[in-house]
Parts: sequence; structure tokens; C-alpha cells
Amino acid sequence: MLNGLERIRLASLHDKVVPVEQAIQLIQDGSVVGMSGFGGAGEAKTVPLALADYAQQHPLKITLATGASLGNRIDGRLSQAHALARRYPYQADPDLRQAINQGEVMYIDQHLSEMAENIRHQNLPRINVAVIAATAITETGLIIPTASCGNSANFVEMADQVIIEIDCTISPEFEGAHDVYVPATRPNRQPIPLVNASNRIGTLGIEVDPAKIAAIVINHLPDTSFKMDESDADTLAIAQHLIHFFEQEVASGRLPENLGPLQSGVGSIANAVFAQFQHSNFHDLEMYSEVLQDCTFELIDSGKMIFASGSSMTLSEPCAAHVMKNFEMYKDKIVLRPQEISNNPEIIRRLGIIAINTALEFDIYGNVNSTHVSGTKMMNGIGGSGDFTRNAHLAIFVTKSIAKNGAISSVVPMVSHCDHIEHDVDILVTEQGLADLRGLAPRERARKIITCCAHPSYQKSLLDYFERACALGGHTPHLLREALSWHANFVETGRMQ
Ligand code: COA
Repeated sequence: MLNGLERIRLASLHDKVVPVEQAIQLIQDGSVVGMSGFGGAGEAKTVPLALADYAQQHPLKITLATGASLGNRIDGRLSQAHALARRYPYQADPDLRQAINQGEVMYIDQHLSEMAENIRHQNLPRINVAVIAATAITETGLIIPTASCGNSANFVEMADQVIIEIDCTISPEFEGAHDVYVPATRPNRQPIPLVNASNRIGTLGIEVDPAKIAAIVINHLPDTSFKMDESDADTLAIAQHLIHFFEQEVASGRLPENLGPLQSGVGSIANAVFAQFQHSNFHDLEMYSEVLQDCTFELIDSGKMIFASGSSMTLSEPCAAHVMKNFEMYKDKIVLRPQEISNNPEIIRRLGIIAINTALEFDIYGNVNSTHVSGTKMMNGIGGSGDFTRNAHLAIFVTKSIAKNGAISSVVPMVSHCDHIEHDVDILVTEQGLADLRGLAPRERARKIITCCAHPSYQKSLLDYFERACALGGHTPHLLREALSWHANFVETGRMQ
């Protein structure tokens, strides 16, 4: 592995290498900081962890913007140090979640594709300091990102000052894996020239004015590895329902034989679905997604998948070791893009993506809650699920029909928070079955969702609710005093019924 200085190939930058204690002085109370990191991969580590330690002794609060969630418990450490005033656009850390739900941290839960636009067009505050993890800096001064692209290019473009963390744990082979395209500012924007998941339209790294680089630090802490839950009977059943549905769509001529580009949320259900592709007859699969997981590389290894485009790589320890060691072999089969390109509505609509994301709950009409437990407590955030769902060719949500040993039904009369509206949602799947909602009116959708997706122990109550609501009339019948009573019961008694 190359050492830190060997990775800084523009020699005039060598004298910018400083101890981390010096670099963090650039971040002050009230600073708006843009950090690399997406899906727990490719984050800067040395600087935020040193900042968290510093803030324990010297109270300060920053606004922290990232690509998405961070690894290495960085959000947790910053929360414990009370160093976060505001945070956007996504997180998945238990301590930060608690601080958000206690009202200590102001969390702006945003569509991931939109954040770069919002900073570029000054809907969000200017970035004072960008902290960007890099595999290398080239002879011409290009910053080569690590295992994620996220919003890094935008942060570098918009920041007053840039701190670069050279990540010595990343294989130098990562150089060449990225495709950095930055859309022009409106109104002078052209269509994004990407017509296939595998197109390359940008540069191999992030352009930066060297004068903006205020400090370079050397990092030796690796990305966090993720342990993926094994498939269980329920996730397997969900995967089988979906594969069967796809087979029927291909047979009826509604989908091409390779299905077209696939997007998948992270997590055990997504992993189970993609594992099932191994045993299916589908071939020449392509991904145009956000996070590339173990299953992506397994499908590439087995020859089932020919190309995967994402914004980050979130891998288990053995898979990360295998990919790092053999990265050369994946270089022409994957690409990592900025999230305003990986999640771009224009491209998602153009490519005809099948989007598969996980819901916390959905209601009998097909509205989906991805973010708020019982309507109030933030879980993680909307992430890219809205970017893909709204614009997908087929928008699919999956979830187990019950949670917490049956105390919760994931199919409810009315969602307690709505992230994805019925108009955007095509297919719902639980282990009980698959509801194809295309072309159905609300009253038809309700019967289908209840009979196909709800757990048997909740079906009767849902049907009873629906029929009593229908008796009152309406296009989307509801019993307004009862609609959220299941959630209220859960909050009060620990069970929905
Ligand atoms: N009410 C309350 N809690 C629920 C619930 C419900 N209806 N459904 C599930 N849960 C709980 C589970 O019990 C579990 O709790 P635990 O952590 O205490 O065990 C937790 O939520 C996670 O559920 P799980 O079934 O393990 O699914 P997951 O890890 O795949 O996460 C989401 C599901 C919805 C939280 C997650 O997919 C997410 O954050 N999605 C939004 C962002 C997104 O879609 N990103 C991808 C787009 S690219």
C-alpha cells in the first residue's frame, strides 16, 4: 500500500500536510461543514473524530452536511459531544437518532439528489469547510474519492476552504472507479448526457482550486464494514414473490429480458431479493442505484450482472477484503457517481428503472411511510427512496407484514407519516404476497393490499375498517377518528390491537 505522501502526486501540496489537531482549528463554532461519506462508506474519519474529542472539552456546534449516513460511529461521537446543531440530508446512527428525536439536533431529512442543487442555488447555507476523503491527489490536482462520491464534488466547489483526508487504507486501484459530473447552474443547464447505466460522462476525480486546500491530513482508519443479516423465511418469501412477478412481466412483454436497470435500497430484504437473482433465469442484469452491497459483487462474480452504477460501496468485511484485493477486475463493471447523478430524476425516468425500497409501513391505499415510527419518531430518513420512487418505471416497496413479534402491523388503515404517496407506488410486497396496484382505484387497491399483503392476524380488522369506511362514502374512504387509532394504541399499550 502507498503511504500518505506517495498518494499526493502534486508535490506542491506536500507542505499542506498537517497534524489533525491543526486541521480541526479550521472548523469553528457555527461552521457549516460538508463532509464526504455515503451509506457508511467513504467518509472522512480523522478530522470528525478528532473534532468530536475536541468538542468534549471545548463546546462548539456545527451544521453538518454529508452525502448520506456515516460509518465509524462518527454521527454518534459528534452527537455525544453535543457538537451537532443541524444535520442533513440523512443519518442512521442510534445516538444521533435519539438527539434528533429529543429535539437537540435539527435534522433536515432531504431527498438525496436535491442537496447539491440546494447548496448550489443557495437554498441551503454556503459550506465554510469541506472535509473530503481521498484515495489520492493526482499530478494535476484532481481529488480521487474513496468508496463513495456522495456530495463531495459539490462541497469542494461550494466551500471556502477544503481539508483533504488521504485514506491510506484504500486500494490505489480505486483510481478510475469514479465518474464525476457536475451539472451547470440553471438556467444554463444542458440535459445530462447519460443514456445507459454504464455511460461515463465526467472526470475521474474532483476538480479543486489548489488555493482552497487549507490542510491535508493522513488517515489510517478503514471504512466500517457491515454485517448483512442472513435471509430468513420472510425475506426469502418476499424475494420469491418479486422474482415470480418479474418473470410474469417479462413473459407478458412488459419488461425486457434483463429487466432494465435496477435500484435497490440497502438492508436485509434487498440483499435477499438480489440473492434470489442468483437462482433465477435472469441474466445481463444492470444496477443504477445508490449503494452497491455485497450482493452486487456476488452477482457480478457469478456472471449474472454485467454493470453496476452507484454512489457508494457498503460491504461486509470479507466482501470488502475481496473487492479491495481484486479491484482491477471490477473496474470496467462498476462506477461510482455523485449522488445528484446516481439519484437524478431526469436519468431515473429516462433509464426506466425498477426501484425496490423498504417501507416501515404502508396503508390500505398504498401510501408509504419510510421514516417515522408511529408518525413522530425519526428512524433514518427518506434517503434516495423518494428520488427513485417518484421517477421509476416501476416503484416497488417491500416490508415484512408485521414487526416487533406481531405487536405492529406494517399494513395500517392510514400511514402515520407519508413519504411516498399512493400516486407514486406501483407494487407492494410482504412475505404474504404481492399487490400489483397499477391501474387500480383506491377502493380496488385497498382490497388487494389487505388480501395480498396484510398478516392474517390483522386482515379481518383491516377489512372491517375498510368496509365501515366505505359505508360513509368517499373516493378514498376513511374513518377519521379511527384512522390513526392503531398507532395510538401501540404508543399507549405496546400493541396496535
Ligand atoms: N413500526 C415501528 N417499527 C418498525 C416497523 C413499524 N411499522 N417496521 C419495522 N420496524 C422496526 C423493526 O422492528 C426494526 O427494529 P429494530 O432495529 O429495533 O430491530 C427496524 O424498524 C428496522 O426494520 P427492519 O425490518 O430490520 O428493516 P431495515 O433494516 O431494512 O430498515 C427502514 C427498514 C425502512 C428503516 C430502512 O429501509 C430505511 O431507513 N429506509 C428509508 C431510506 C431508504 O429507503 N433508503 C434506501 C433508498 S436508496
